Amino acid sequence: MIGIGCDHGGIELKNTVIDYFEKNNIEYKDFGTYTTESCDYPVYGKKVANAVASGECEKGIVICGTGIGISITANKVKGIRCALCHDVFSAKATREHNDANMLAMGARVIGPGPAIEVVKAFLSTDFSGDERHVRRIAMIEE
Ligand code: RB5
Repeated sequence: MIGIGCDHGGIELKNTVIDYFEKNNIEYKDFGTYTTESCDYPVYGKKVANAVASGECEKGIVICGTGIGISITANKVKGIRCALCHDVFSAKATREHNDANMLAMGARVIGPGPAIEVVKAFLSTDFSGDERHVRRIAMIEE
């Protein structure tokens, strides 16, 4: 199950990602926001991050205008490693090296086509499991 959430700036891109999930039978839970009315990104960043941290969702995707505010929010939740990625290389690398459990994107930064490629890379890449990466990830939580 993938948790997804956004603020008003990210709603169009969130709907694009949800379309991709539905066409590809990817299970998801939409934590809102559900309208274009101005709202506060920390509310939605926290909802998705808490769902990932609790194990309700295996991974999370959060979207705001830049992706910055919502990624900062998600990373405040213990156990969350949220990577702000606007390219496929970073999305793949953050899974392999950081075992990132959340992806953030900025809807004002990336278009729908490249964003879906970033989502695909993020969801299809496994953590490398290399000792040095395991060690470094453990150090994040110290
Ligand atoms: C909302 O206007 C905007 O500040 C928000 O979507 C995000 O970019 C914050 O980091």
